[in-house]
Amino acid sequence: MNLSKNKAVKMLYRGLKNYFANKPVCVSFEVLNSCNLNCHHCNWGGQIEETLLTPEQIRDIYLRFKPPVVQISGGEPLLRDDIDDIFRALKQDNCVPYLILVSNAYLMTEEHYIKLNEAGVDQFSISLDFPDERHDYFRRQPGLFGHLNKLIPRLSSLGYDNIILNTAITHENYKYLREIVDLAEKWGVYMSFSAYTILRTANRDFCINEQEELERLKRIIDELIQLKKERQRIVTSEITLKRTYEFFKHSKITGCKAGKRFFVIPPDGLLLPCAMHRNRLFSTQAEMIEEFSNHNKCGSCFVAIRSMTDLPFMSFIKSTLSSYLSLKKPPASAEVYVSPEEQLVKEISNQNSIT
Ligand SMILES: C[S@@+](CC[C@H](N)C(=O)[O-])C[C@H]1O[C@@H](n2cnc3c(N)ncnc32)[C@H](O)[C@@H]1O
Repeated sequence: MNLSKNKAVKMLYRGLKNYFANKPVCVSFEVLNSCNLNCHHCNWGGQIEETLLTPEQIRDIYLRFKPPVVQISGGEPLLRDDIDDIFRALKQDNCVPYLILVSNAYLMTEEHYIKLNEAGVDQFSISLDFPDERHDYFRRQPGLFGHLNKLIPRLSSLGYDNIILNTAITHENYKYLREIVDLAEKWGVYMSFSAYTILRTANRDFCINEQEELERLKRIIDELIQLKKERQRIVTSEITLKRTYEFFKHSKITGCKAGKRFFVIPPDGLLLPCAMHRNRLFSTQAEMIEEFSNHNKCGSCFVAIRSMTDLPFMSFIKSTLSSYLSLKKPPASAEVYVSPEEQLVKEISNQNSIT
């Protein structure tokens, strides 16, 4: 991924400040509830009558918490006519916050991708559930895979180096994860993985429960970890990949920091600890921590925003850096290879600027 050292240092600094102050390291703005798709694992689709926050109101909420990472999601964010204005309003300087657009990309064009880059998007997180037309079936949208198959290699060839495919692992697609990584490589983009949760639809059909299936998933996850080392395409950290398997195995995983390290701003501008507990709305973070986070025992999801933010401190740093810093292969001739994240951690501790 294309991330300058200056940007990485600023993000890390902001992240550490917020981490220790119980402020969020990532806030996800759901900038609308409406969606153009109605995916099997989400059942969210449709146009909804809703009042939306303006780009300026979104910026004002951002300024209350100043997370180093902001995710713009929905619904489908590309349905908003003013989506570019939202990114422009949020970009404070060239470095922070790190802005992620989460989209199914059905409405994306090459022209709009360039404009969104100019508006400040740092990372495009594009959902992909299958490496072929089964994606159309799963997302109930004929032609979607064909569109991505044409579009993404073209976007990748523009050289921004900032597209990550995100696959939510389900019972339906876990056997094809390797093929999805191969496709990401062919398209010239990166890969991240998250886990299906029943919290959206209560549908257990997409869980992976049988012993035999779990053993197969374990082998596939081990293979992904190996691939990650060899090909540098997968941004999900090794520890998160292992914990994703544990999540499926036990159908839960403890340690969720929703409301503290991350939270969600739905279209009405109130605070939700996470996208899955939609009736727990709060006006302030303090109230949310007091009434929700301090008693939260929910372990029923392991989506990306959670898996990244509930890591122990040092793993969080390593994982964040390895996700966001250059994933380019080490030079073959280097005797002792120091990875970009190791270099950065060294530099920061030498400067002794962060305690
Ligand atoms: C809710 S969508 C919103 C953004 C956009 N419309 C999209 O499809 O990417 C964000 C992500 O949530 C994932 N998702 C939806 N339902 C899920 C579930 N039940 N468990 C885990 N991830 C889910 C999707 O695959 C997608 O990558």
